[in-house]
Order: sequence, then structure tokens, then C-alpha cells
Amino acid sequence: MNENKQKLNIGIIGFGRMGQKFCDELLRSPLWSVTRICDPSAEARKIAAEKVPGAIVTSDDDTVFSDPAIDAVGLFALADSRPGQIMKGLAAGKHLLVEKPVAESLESEWEILRAVEASDRMVAVNLFNRSAWYHHVIMDFIKEGEIGELAIVRICHMTPGHMPQEGHGPEGPAFHDCGMHYVDAARMYAGSEYKTFHAQGIRMWSHTDPWWLQAHGTFENGVVFDVTQGFVYGHMAEKQTHNCYVDIIGTKGIARMTHDFKDATVELHGINRTEKIVKEFGDKKLDVLVDVFGRSILAGRNLGFPEVRDSVIASELAWKMLEDADRNGSPCVGRVEDMDEIMARRRTLTNGYGLPVWKIFDETNRKRAEAAAAAKAAGAETATAKTAGA
Ligand SMILES: NC(=O)c1ccc[n+]([C@@H]2O[C@H](COP(=O)([O-])OP(=O)(O)OC[C@H]3O[C@@H](n4cnc5c(N)ncnc54)[C@H](O)[C@@H]3O)[C@@H](O)[C@H]2O)c1
Repeated sequence: MNENKQKLNIGIIGFGRMGQKFCDELLRSPLWSVTRICDPSAEARKIAAEKVPGAIVTSDDDTVFSDPAIDAVGLFALADSRPGQIMKGLAAGKHLLVEKPVAESLESEWEILRAVEASDRMVAVNLFNRSAWYHHVIMDFIKEGEIGELAIVRICHMTPGHMPQEGHGPEGPAFHDCGMHYVDAARMYAGSEYKTFHAQGIRMWSHTDPWWLQAHGTFENGVVFDVTQGFVYGHMAEKQTHNCYVDIIGTKGIARMTHDFKDATVELHGINRTEKIVKEFGDKKLDVLVDVFGRSILAGRNLGFPEVRDSVIASELAWKMLEDADRNGSPCVGRVEDMDEIMARRRTLTNGYGLPVWKIFDETNRKRAEAAAAAKAAGAETATAKTAGA
């Protein structure tokens, strides 16, 4: 950062769901100034211009990379555009804040990793579990020796999340797109590399890919794991719910976490300490990531952001687990008509799990219209009060 500058300048590429969420956190942060936003969608650019009136909004990403005033670029489009953008960013000397996976194919991901590790630029990946307070509380508890020796890591993430047609195509089936986060979290807890695994999937509603998958196996250090991820959890339930947990078992004690997307509850049952902590879940924890990324650039070293290597390893294992599920035969239940019924319901949902981006835009527009109406009404009230006072 230029010493005379108050803030780091960042350009955002990809202004959909994640790009907008990142933008909100960057605007809240005292470290960052959002100076350019790029998206090929006119609707996204309209939202960008309203949200950040001071930013230059464009459909040409080259103008972001070539801007000498920009310190870092956020890459929040889909995986297929990421490799080209990462290479352009590194060539332009920008630090990069990128979404996962870093590319749409493994070969490309390893290529990106080599380029990133050969560069002196900081490249942070949004592996949000690594920014989560609840995982850090549990990992500290393990380090204190409260559960004895770590033996078993169990992680589950089941929601009525996005349906096959709604996902991010280049990111792959649910277990890769979303499941790689939990593959990464299990490796983070184990502090070791994956050694063996067996995966079982199930396909639903005649879709070709498993939409629920469970893998279990071992790490090099002898820790065992099971990871379950599925977007099949009660799509047509009258009142939707979910089942998300981390269950850590040691030779002497346990630690676990559940959440309801609003609050996370950590329960610690150690040799000396029993504690229950309930705090805000914090969605994707982007506030933590933008803060540590900014401070790292200023410090000239990584102060704790998730790295490309972690993302590539998690992505590779998630792909391999999907392949294993395929080899083990993923049976199919449900009919295409069930999928149609679910999709019809999701079209009318205004609040729910993993709603597609057109819904979010609808929701954003609805909120904007409501805010404008409220502001107008407040203005009218003030005007009436002034008239009455006069
Ligand atoms: N880390 C997480 O927890 C998490 C959660 C959700 C999504 N993601 C990742 O974030 C990325 C974006 O997901 P999303 O849900 O925001 O998707 P989205 O479809 O809502 O948004 C993508 C945006 O990128 C734009 N875009 C497409 N091609 C582009 C290009 N070449 N240059 C610039 N913009 C382009 C689209 O117009 C769209 O506005 C995906 O890679 C996904 O895997 C990560």
C-alpha cells in the first residue's frame, strides 16, 4: 500500500451472490476501499453502481487488473473463469482474494498452485471453515489436551440446499461444490493428509450425480473420519430444517458443534473443563477473511488466511470421493417428477437454503424497493411534521 493512502484498494470481479457479500464486508472494513467492480451481467452492474456509487463499474476485467491504484482483486465469478483471472492478476502484481475451487479441473488447479507458490503475491481462498470461531475454539481445546488424543473427526452438512439445475456448473456436484469445505475441515482438524477412504453416494430424482454422499476413512496420522454432505434434507418438508454438526472424539473427552445458521453452539466435554458456548454463526465469516487478508498484505506475510494449497487438496479429495462413490455404485431413488415438484416449490420460496442467484437478485430488489418505500414514507412523515409544526 502507498504510505500516503488510508486504505487498500480492491477491485471485485464477479458480482453475484458471493461478490455482493464480499463487497458488503469490504465496505464495512476500515482496511479496504472498493474502487472497481466488474461483471458481464447488466443486472449485477446495476446493483454494483447503486451499492458502491464511488466505484468504476465495468464488464471488462482487464481494466481492473491494469489499474495501478488497485492493490488486490477479488475473484468471485465461477471456477471456469478463475484460472485466467488468477494468472492475469499475478502478472499484474495484484494480491488476490479468490473463491473456491480455484479452477474447474484438477489439472488447472495444480497449475494455478504452482504459479501462486512461485509468486510473491498473497492469494487467499475462501475456505470459510478456517475463519470460523467455533472450529478455533474446538481446536484450541484439543491442543490443551482436554480430549486426550484426537481419534475421530465426524462432520455432517445436510440441508435442503441447491438442486441440480441450480448449482454452479463448473464447480461440480454438491459434494464437490459444497462438500469440499467439509473435506477441508476434517483435514484441518486431523492436521494430517488423507490416507484411505470409502465413499457411498445416492442419486435422487433421476439426476446423474449423487446429491448426498458420505465418505469415511483414515488420515496418515491414524485419525479416522466420516464426512457427510447432502442437499437432500427435506426439500418438501412443511417446515424445512437441516442437520449440521462437527463431532470430535478423543481418547478421553469430546467436543462438538451444531448450528442453526443463526447461532453456533459449541459443547466442550474435557477432562478438566465442561463448557457450552453459544455465539453468532456468522454466515461465511467474510468479515474475518477480509480483515486477515488486509492485515497480511500490510504485514507482508500470511497472518492466517486459507491458502490455495488447502483448497486444491480439498478439491482433489472431494473429486476422488465422488469417483469412489461412482465405483461403489450410487443407487437412484425418486423420480424426475419429484424434482419438478421441488423446483416448483423453490420458485415460490423467498427465504430458504441455497436459493439460486435469480432469487437473491429478486430478494435484493425487493429489499431495495422496501427500503426506498420506507425512506419515502419517512420523508413524507417528516414533511408532514414540519408542516404541522409550522
Ligand atoms: N466459499 C463459500 O462458502 C462459497 C459459497 C458459495 C459460492 N462459492 C463460490 O463462489 C463463486 C461464485 O458463486 P456465486 O454463488 O456468487 O455465483 P453467482 O452465479 O451468484 O455469481 C457469479 C457472478 O459472476 C459473474 N460472472 C460470470 N462470468 C464472469 C466473468 N468472466 N467475469 C466476471 N464476472 C463473471 C456472473 O454474471 C455472476 O454475477 C463460485 O465459484 C462458488 O463456488 C463459495
